[in-house]
Amino acid sequence: MNEKDVCKEVGQSFKIVSKEAVVPNIYEMVIEAPIIAEKVKPGQFVILIPDEMGERVPFTVSDWDVEKGTVTIFFQELGVSTMKLAKMEVGNTLESLVGPLGKPAEIANFGTVLLGGGCYGIGGIYPIARAMKEAGNRVITVVEARGQYLLYNLDKLKAVSDQLFLTTSDGSTEISGKVHDAVQHLLDKGEKIDRAVFMGCNFMLMMSSEATKSHGIKTKVFLNALMVDGTGMCGCCRCSVGGETKYACVDGPEFDGHEVDWEELFKRSGHYLNDEVLAYQFFNYKGCKQDMDG
Ligand code: FES
Repeated sequence: MNEKDVCKEVGQSFKIVSKEAVVPNIYEMVIEAPIIAEKVKPGQFVILIPDEMGERVPFTVSDWDVEKGTVTIFFQELGVSTMKLAKMEVGNTLESLVGPLGKPAEIANFGTVLLGGGCYGIGGIYPIARAMKEAGNRVITVVEARGQYLLYNLDKLKAVSDQLFLTTSDGSTEISGKVHDAVQHLLDKGEKIDRAVFMGCNFMLMMSSEATKSHGIKTKVFLNALMVDGTGMCGCCRCSVGGETKYACVDGPEFDGHEVDWEELFKRSGHYLNDEVLAYQFFNYKGCKQDMDG
């Protein structure tokens, strides 16, 4: 019995309920997964396999609906798996979806919480912002992109944030630069922040953690580590935090941003980059050839 058969046995079909490009190259996908929707908490993730020949890929759960039995993910088309997902249609079913995985985000009444999101993290940070607001915090959210046209999910974030700041590399919004520039800008203005939480690419996590360090602000980051099983067995997501070996899938993905060994993380995450680029080009070529052959 393969994973898809097991899923069918327990009444999970993982049908795609909706799929939409929210901005160029970033997609929102809503998937039927009632058991996961019932159990998932902010900051947790799922591992999905797009098709029979697909690989296992982790995605942060960005929202869920217990009544409808659905979970929502955002993804950027970057490699073979996300290319396959981007080509899937409403009504198609995923090969498998496992979750919720990882520890939930630490939610409490800290006072003023600053949340920063970039790329998929603009979607992923939303349930954390919502939970932080519900816990009684004053919530300041900062989202980054290259240009304003690449920012998404803003209405939902606005609804759960006391203040929402948009920052862009091309200067098309109120603040120019990245999340860490906006953090610096707020701190320079004298904003008192009790807790910071960042989700996005590892570079953004590192730079934002550096920005909060000298101010002594407790900072949590959602690490992007390579993953295979997602349950602590393969060792693929190994990272070092505070001088200790951790596994992002079971000990995280949320860690103290001031304690992460960033150099090691960058080295490990880039290990298969060339192979991933080759695979992406190969699949693209195959797809184009099939289209030309009709
Ligand atoms: Fe295998 Fe974390 S993904 S140990």
